[in-house]
Amino acid sequence: MRSNYVIGLNSGTSFDGIDVALVKFKKNDLRPIFVDGIVCEYPKKIKEQIRELIASAGSIHNLSPQKISKLDISLGNLFANTALQIIKKRGLKKEDILLIGSHGQTIYHKPRVKSVQIGNGKIIAKRTDIKTINDFREADIKAGGEGAPLMPFLDQVCFGKTKKGIITLNIGGIANITATGKNIKPIAFDTGPGNALIDLVTRKYFNTDFDRDGLIAKKGNVIFKYIKKAALDPYFRISPPKSTGKEYFNQQFIDRYFSQIKKKRDLISTLTFFTAYTIKYSLEKYVFRKHKISEIVISGGGLKNKTLVSFLKKILPRINITSSDKYGLPSKYKEAILFALLGYTCLKQIPNNIPSCTGARKKTVTGKICVGI
Ligand SMILES: Nc1ncnc2c1ncn2[C@@H]1O[C@H](COP(=O)(O)OP(=O)(O)O)[C@@H](O)[C@H]1O
Ligand SMILES: [Mg+2]
Repeated sequence: MRSNYVIGLNSGTSFDGIDVALVKFKKNDLRPIFVDGIVCEYPKKIKEQIRELIASAGSIHNLSPQKISKLDISLGNLFANTALQIIKKRGLKKEDILLIGSHGQTIYHKPRVKSVQIGNGKIIAKRTDIKTINDFREADIKAGGEGAPLMPFLDQVCFGKTKKGIITLNIGGIANITATGKNIKPIAFDTGPGNALIDLVTRKYFNTDFDRDGLIAKKGNVIFKYIKKAALDPYFRISPPKSTGKEYFNQQFIDRYFSQIKKKRDLISTLTFFTAYTIKYSLEKYVFRKHKISEIVISGGGLKNKTLVSFLKKILPRINITSSDKYGLPSKYKEAILFALLGYTCLKQIPNNIPSCTGARKKTVTGKICVGI
């Protein structure tokens, strides 16, 4: 008999690598119990291919089906390898795994219209011989939703009953929040950039994929006069539900608002502060006016950027800022844990979108079961 272990796989908008989480479920309880996780960095060549594909995807019509299909297969194989890797690491057998929930790699996301993830599920199912569930956005889009964000479902399961209002904040390439708690109908949306803008500049001028521990930002100066103007960008004035991507928070965005900053170190500091500022601004405009919030629980790679977190603490002095690790959700793996949960609920046919967050007309079961080819 297959056991109740579930594997969740994800690669976020930063496409730094595949996050793998192994979780367990108790009977009649949807709260995932984290068992173990690994992060498998993408090979350099694959990273470049993903970057190229995303860059060409300004419009869905620009995406080359041949290139998509080739990378879809390569990523399917890589995702399968990572699942096999964690099974081996834990001394488990494939029979111990109930299913794999795989988000894949987003290469295109246009809210309400189309969201494309690659990392072929049939290949994962075939290579691992484990039932694989993917395509977690389409059903919500069909129900009139944005197909994003998906995290509120995990947040609702884990924090929906807490007496005090809580914000969860995931800082990946893009930053997204969920407001939840006992008396709160969950709200969630992308606040704007997470690490996306910072990563763009470190790669361009500092030959590094990201600002490790926020050390570059720490040494530069924040040039405040550019912050206010950039915060007037139309995205920040759209009321939630809303979602965005690196197609929007890209080099052109930096050029539009920050091109006059001469010193590259100051540019990093300013973008880091801007990222923190847009999170605070969005929370004040769309959450704090309606709900009393006592804590912000952070997850995602941005938690490692100490300068970013210290800016957040400085501009939100009255709120307790913690990490999701405190709640049994290791910050590095929270998204992978989500996809384990979404796969599990799909298999059990439990509705797993949150209409108040995605804008969908109704609750629906997201995810598709892939049969190995
Ligand atoms: N030690 C670190 N210091 C600063 N930033 C970091 C560190 N580790 C990871 N990051 C940031 O986190 C990003 C990856 O975070 P992740 O949660 O995986 O995002 P995504 O879901 O978009 O892939 C990296 O691109 C980088 O910007
Ligand atoms: Mg990542």
